[in-house]
Amino acid sequence: MAPERSPEMEATKSKSFLSDKVSHFTESVIREMTRQAMLYGAVNLAQGFPDFSAPDQIKQAAQQAVAADINQYAITWGAKNLRQAIARQMGIWQGIEVDPEKEVTVCCGSTEAMIATLLALSNAGDEVVVFEPFYENYGPDAVLSGARPRFVKLRPPEEDGGEWMFDEGELREAFGRHTKAIILNTPNNPTGKVFTRRELELIRDLCLEFDVLAITDEIYEHILYDGSEHISIASLDGMRERTVTINGMSKTYSVTGWRVGWAVAPQKITDAIRKVHDFLTVGAPAPLQEAGAQALGLAPEYYTKLAEGYQRRRDHLMPALTAAGFKCFRPRGAYYVMTDISAFGYEDDVSFAKYLVEEIGVATVPGSSFYNDPRDGAKQIRFTFCKKPETLDEAASRLARLRPKPSRQFR
Ligand SMILES: Cc1ncc(COP(=O)(O)O)c(C=O)c1O
Repeated sequence: MAPERSPEMEATKSKSFLSDKVSHFTESVIREMTRQAMLYGAVNLAQGFPDFSAPDQIKQAAQQAVAADINQYAITWGAKNLRQAIARQMGIWQGIEVDPEKEVTVCCGSTEAMIATLLALSNAGDEVVVFEPFYENYGPDAVLSGARPRFVKLRPPEEDGGEWMFDEGELREAFGRHTKAIILNTPNNPTGKVFTRRELELIRDLCLEFDVLAITDEIYEHILYDGSEHISIASLDGMRERTVTINGMSKTYSVTGWRVGWAVAPQKITDAIRKVHDFLTVGAPAPLQEAGAQALGLAPEYYTKLAEGYQRRRDHLMPALTAAGFKCFRPRGAYYVMTDISAFGYEDDVSFAKYLVEEIGVATVPGSSFYNDPRDGAKQIRFTFCKKPETLDEAASRLARLRPKPSRQFR
């Protein structure tokens, strides 16, 4: 029998038990679309994970690590040989000198690296500049860490083959007394934009003028097309001391489920990130960190082939999307295509994505999930092409059933 409630208890309204923070964001739409794809048997061009194998060498390295009983906690901020490999490769790829003992924190994916960084750096009232459309985690990351995001628009190209651009004046406006950091993501999800040296220098100048940090998510560093070049903002004069560079194994080695990522930052910032990371997760999976050390040692041809393979997939999917009636914004990096869906004449992106997954059998991500104000993404849908050619073919044949301006109405 339940105990009797005292008059004081009766007078109290029942508690919600929930933190106010969670009311300020929704569940991930990207991950929800994967669940929808499974529910409706749809081709999943929503979430960015490959449906093909990871390189054999890396899988063998993981198997060997388990067989060699590397089964216990690694050093909390990362296995020494993985940190050394990260530092070595940042020197080779970007000319950035890194101390693996003092400046690297290995986390459970770059997802944890980003939130651990924001938790380690943000105070109530701090502002963080974010380009939008943005990878959807950055919004909740800012809320959870107490920072206030200030959004700056990336505008889609008007001409075929043009680039997503931001307005310099708008960017300057977003910087002020309370700005703690700018979050950058290049190559960019969802737009495929690769920030140019000139753009990064402009951002650098603002960071120096307003004494602001750069937190840069470079998880698609090696996935580049049409001769575009990846530049780490930490490699620009004046930025090494004010940049946190985030990266990981997920996209470069096709192992999104392994959950190994990292943050590289000057020692004082690293000390703070390590503290947060330790109490959040203690450490990333130990045997997979060993495999990570091996992965980072792959020959340069591996990375060339990776980018070529994705360029082929991009060039496979885009004509099918165009033929089906989508206006595609050509990505220069990462493995997504943002599209304009105006031609279909539906009321918004969410109802169109629902129709696509339920009736056409293709899962996508509604554009609104990449914007602060959902109306800004109401005419956009994102496709990923990190899939086998046969998966892309199947999606293309299903999408061929789509008709621009169909007469059917949504229920
Ligand atoms: C821009 C960006 N950052 C981070 C992640 C997640 O990376 P990880 O698997 O290392 O947590 C993704 C995954 O889609 C992404 O697109």
